[in-house]
Amino acid sequence: MMALSKKACLLLLQSFTLLSVCSITAASIEFNFPAVFNFGDSNSDTGNLIASGIESLNPPNGQSYFSVPSGRYCDGRLIIDFLMDAMDLPFLNAYMDSVGAPVFQKGCNFAAAGSTILPASANSVSPFSFRVQVNQFIRFKARVLQLAAEEGKEFEQYIPSEDYFTRGLYMMDIGQNDLAGAFYSKSFDQIIASIPTILAEFESGLKILYDQGARNFWIHNTSPLGCIAQNIAKFGTDHSKLDQLGCVSNFNQAAMLLNLQLHALVTKLRGQNNDANITYVDVFSIKYNLIANYSRFGFEQPLMACCGYGGPPLNYDGRISCGQRKIINGVSITVKACSDSTEHVNWDGIHYTEAANEFISSQILSGRYSDPPFADKMPFLLKLKF
Ligand SMILES: *[C@@H]1O[C@H](CO)[C@@H](O)[C@H](O)[C@H]1NC(C)=O
Ligand SMILES: *[C@@H]1O[C@H](CO)[C@@H](O)[C@H](O)[C@H]1NC(C)=O
Repeated sequence: MMALSKKACLLLLQSFTLLSVCSITAASIEFNFPAVFNFGDSNSDTGNLIASGIESLNPPNGQSYFSVPSGRYCDGRLIIDFLMDAMDLPFLNAYMDSVGAPVFQKGCNFAAAGSTILPASANSVSPFSFRVQVNQFIRFKARVLQLAAEEGKEFEQYIPSEDYFTRGLYMMDIGQNDLAGAFYSKSFDQIIASIPTILAEFESGLKILYDQGARNFWIHNTSPLGCIAQNIAKFGTDHSKLDQLGCVSNFNQAAMLLNLQLHALVTKLRGQNNDANITYVDVFSIKYNLIANYSRFGFEQPLMACCGYGGPPLNYDGRISCGQRKIINGVSITVKACSDSTEHVNWDGIHYTEAANEFISSQILSGRYSDPPFADKMPFLLKLKF
């Protein structure tokens, strides 16, 4: 069950105005879904890119929860892990993980780090664009139905039942890399002009899933990518490009413009398909609020990477990543973690720490950042337990 860590709760309790936040998150929320099918990028990749062999992760990745690297770009759990926990479902296995007879009974994760909505290009980190992930889902579903028909009950404990494909929750967190990647080769105006194309591709993937039987959608909007050390280091050297929090303004503006159009798309789809539930979750506002008001939420560093190289203010160097060993300027460097990752919002200069993910998840589960908000007509039972 989802609950804030004791540390976060105590810190919240010190601030009277946030008392209600704490009591909401301390309660458990039960979602009524038998399975989850997830699509996205590193925000929710539980092992696909690593299983595909395109990249590898070294310790200290995973150290805060799994003790070893777990295929996640994080010191511990991701938002999706906390949400699965809140739904009383096991962590999602990655579609591409082939060793150890992975169990997909309660769903499957198609998200892969570095993925974009638009088809991958020669410069893409991940070839697993949204459409490829949707194709993987189609293959997954067909194979599940075939196994169930041919082998009967033998595979029951490893694969979802047929009705889970309709009753399950389809979660999405993708689009951030479409924008971030574009800044390397396009002007701001060109990037803004490309947003409708990005969202048309997203819409066509959603429609395929709907035609495959998906009826419950849960869509995270795009994060404030201008607040990520990697982008600040590369695009924020001219301080006039930074906002009052030290984030690259035009990156966040692009994210907000994408989110406005994404929200409009969700509203349109809801009107067209009244037999589907589509929830839009404003993760941007949760993350931006965390970065702006970090000390109130129990953090000490809003932007500086915990596991990075180079020291303050960002502790980030694009030449070497968390856990890597390399010779830089004639010196052998191994990138280690800071002494307490729970003080940092950012883990490796690109991704959030487990502590930040836990806070963000608690805010998502408060229901206040969703359209429609939970208490309304969503398929959730809100149970307050103290
Ligand atoms: C920071 O907290 C204050 C007080 O609750 C709030 O008014 C403000 O909107 C927050 N900042 C952001 C960026 O959300
Ligand atoms: C959508 O949510 C409503 C309200 O919780 C629920 O009754 C309905 O079954 C859901 N629709 C689908 C298609 O699952």
